[in-house]
Amino acid sequence: MKMILLGPPGAGKGTQAKGIAARYGIAHISTGDMLRSEVREGTPLGREAKAYMDNGQLVPDDVIIGMVKNRIQQPDCQNGFLFDGFPRTIAQAEVLEQITDIDRVIDIEVPDERLIERISGRRMCPLCGATYHVSTHAGDKCSCGGTLYQRDDDKAETVAVRVREYHRKTEALIDFYAQKGKLLRVNGDATVDAVAEEIARELDA
Ligand code: AP5
Repeated sequence: MKMILLGPPGAGKGTQAKGIAARYGIAHISTGDMLRSEVREGTPLGREAKAYMDNGQLVPDDVIIGMVKNRIQQPDCQNGFLFDGFPRTIAQAEVLEQITDIDRVIDIEVPDERLIERISGRRMCPLCGATYHVSTHAGDKCSCGGTLYQRDDDKAETVAVRVREYHRKTEALIDFYAQKGKLLRVNGDATVDAVAEEIARELDA
């Protein structure tokens, strides 16, 4: 199984990805997580990407494509993989077509006004990568013991740029994959469990 999770920032891609990847026994590949790890380690790639990420802009296609090509060669991708946050431009999708065949693309749809509320309340664990929301999680501790933090690009003004970038550069992928007959559309404006159930139903069908 090779799948893509599409959707705007804050749609719930990361939240849903873990369950889908576990259910199908495939690797979860989040280009955002990979970039944040490069930034933390201070690699040349991380230093280049940081300026774009901090401003809410997309990192250049060639940087992302090189990173993804290496990642899908890893042994844990042999059974398949789920891309979370890739591709994000038509150019990235066209290169992906040349590298591998994608079976399904799940588009999680959430109205813009809900995205800001979700992202501004998001808190992350630096140790295990778990994601929480302040409305449903009291305090600043993760279940693993880590102290939760807010992502640098989750400030309101940066979120607005990220949502604009999504509409300008990424949304066109919905039509791109619909025309190939690979697109499944899911209502992301529902509870986490309801979204997970709808995704499972669509994939089973
Ligand atoms: P990335 O890390 O991929 O960020 P994103 O796409 O903006 O997505 P998010 O992680 O913000 O949201 P999500 O959809 O995963 O939502 P989540 O599940 O966390 O990318 C970051 C940056 O890296 C980009 O801006 C860009 O610079 C760069 N980049 C990455 N990939 C790139 C690429 N391919 N090309 C170029 N540049 C790239 O949920 C959000 C919040 O909502 C959480 O608090 C969660 O608890 C809550 N929540 C989730 N689901 C629900 C629900 N159903 N109901 C209520 N609350 C919910």
